Amino acid sequence: MTTIPRDFIDLVLTKTDIVDLIDARVPLRKKTGSNFFACCPFHQEKSASFSVSQTKQFYYCFGCGAHGNAIDFLIQFDRLSFPESIETLAKQIGMEVPRDTNSSEKKINHAALNDLLKKISDDYQMQLREQPRAIQYLKNRGLTGVMAKKFEIGYAPAGWDHVLQKFSAEKKQLFEVGMLIKKDDGGAYDRFRDRIMFPIHDRRGKIIGFGGRIIDQGEPKYLNSPETILFQKGHELYGLHHAMQANRELKRVLIVEGYMDVISLFQNEITYAVATLGTATTANHLNRLFRYTSEIIFCFDGDNAGRTAASRALHVVLPVMRDGIQIRFMFLPDGEDPDTLVRKEGKNAFEERMQKSATLSQFFFQSIATQTDLNTTDGRARFVKLCTEQLKQLPETFFKQLMFDELAKKARMDVQQLQQSRTTKTISSKTTSNKKPPSLLRLAITLLIQNPALALSYEDTLPSLESPGFQLLTQCFAIAKTNPQMNTGMMLEFFRDQPEGKLLAQLAQVEHMIPEHGIQTEFLGALNHFKKLSQQQIIGQLLAKAAMGDLSKEEKYALQELVSATKL
Ligand code: UTP
Ligand code: MN
Repeated sequence: MTTIPRDFIDLVLTKTDIVDLIDARVPLRKKTGSNFFACCPFHQEKSASFSVSQTKQFYYCFGCGAHGNAIDFLIQFDRLSFPESIETLAKQIGMEVPRDTNSSEKKINHAALNDLLKKISDDYQMQLREQPRAIQYLKNRGLTGVMAKKFEIGYAPAGWDHVLQKFSAEKKQLFEVGMLIKKDDGGAYDRFRDRIMFPIHDRRGKIIGFGGRIIDQGEPKYLNSPETILFQKGHELYGLHHAMQANRELKRVLIVEGYMDVISLFQNEITYAVATLGTATTANHLNRLFRYTSEIIFCFDGDNAGRTAASRALHVVLPVMRDGIQIRFMFLPDGEDPDTLVRKEGKNAFEERMQKSATLSQFFFQSIATQTDLNTTDGRARFVKLCTEQLKQLPETFFKQLMFDELAKKARMDVQQLQQSRTTKTISSKTTSNKKPPSLLRLAITLLIQNPALALSYEDTLPSLESPGFQLLTQCFAIAKTNPQMNTGMMLEFFRDQPEGKLLAQLAQVEHMIPEHGIQTEFLGALNHFKKLSQQQIIGQLLAKAAMGDLSKEEKYALQELVSATKL
């Protein structure tokens, strides 16, 4: 881990010219545009395939794939460590590496916030003991004292200032962790009042937020901590810490919706359930889970909302799918949730349902088959088209091949014929401009990593889109905005040792064929397209909710606004 401040690394990279740096070690000759070439110093070759871009501040070898920014070059060529490399660059520009007090301070700060939440959680647990109404509620739901203790369930007293008073010495921190809400007059009051409290832990068991359930009737049923520096909903999964503690090896993970589902399953010895926190499952959630398990089972309600949620999950899974992972889609009988069902029928019956649930492949083909008629030629063609469109999202895996084989079988077509149609498609989509994600997303990221200044030309905030990869664009966008002098090499520095770094380095040297003067238009066009998609996504979610008849007044209004704005 580096202890060199980010700002300083930025500064060093801004003041260094990678062309001078490399030229002093490997003589470069200028060729096209702002690119310099040489025989690659990292592998044996006769023709020059090692290129250095002055504008991007980035080198890339088309022969062996070696690549990086100025820091990487010194690491690879001079065989320096990361801090040594920065020290060398700093010396060249007459600077000294400052010692980082910042990041260690940040760590201490995080720990202090975790501690504060732990103190509050302990207090909530104490409060629960003195609140028979809350205890009775949990008992009525069949929860044992052992589980309540294990999951550290507590009670936030009624009134406006319980936490505010008790932890008044740490008022600033209370705001930082989302426990207080600001009043217009500058005052503050407790976010959680008269609720059953579920602390949310990160993977290591540190408390990062809370979910609070209302005891009787009322809105909202669950209130969650807002996003804070400790808590990002798209990253965290409720119950993951407990599941990892209870199982030396997590053979599988069941993804459910609610806090009580996780706890109730745990009480019934299904100790590997996790819940997303009031959001849909994200690609980030999945990538995280893939580190700990090789089987993921999504659990959905049996109704229409459940079906919609399942196909949304499918869209998130496909692009991040990898070999060796098993995904299943499980639908519960109407009117049940995992909590009610497991209490009714117990562990074995519930696990049997999991065993019998649809695999990704089964669910995928089933859901598309219901939209088409496989008995007619036209219907089969449509089936193939819809399937192909979606399967294209799969990364190049053995699994992808299997899915295409399966598709061919189902459509009673020859694999070869099918693959041909696949290749012609990809070629034609290169010549005509293909405006569909993920290729458009890829293009947007490519343009941005190659021209970070593009971020400055977009003044709006980025739309939020539930699409894997979109987070990467968001991240790049945010990074590009931090510094008007940002270049490609500097951007890649933010992804050092991160899995996305490799992909971004590839995109950094891709030849996109868009002429210089068209780049900005193309980029802004892509962002506008994403904005529309995001509006459609929200409309879809609201319509699904409306179909269930549970749209709030604000949501109805928002829906009207959106629909008229997008002229659907
Ligand atoms: P559900 O409404 O399906 O409730 O919400 P549940 O989990 O069955 O809750 P119980 O059994 O009545 O206690 C599922 C999940 O959606 C989020 C919570 O994470 C909840 O556990 N949610 C729900 C909210 O964030 N806010 C809400 O108002 C409702
Ligand atoms: Mn429930």
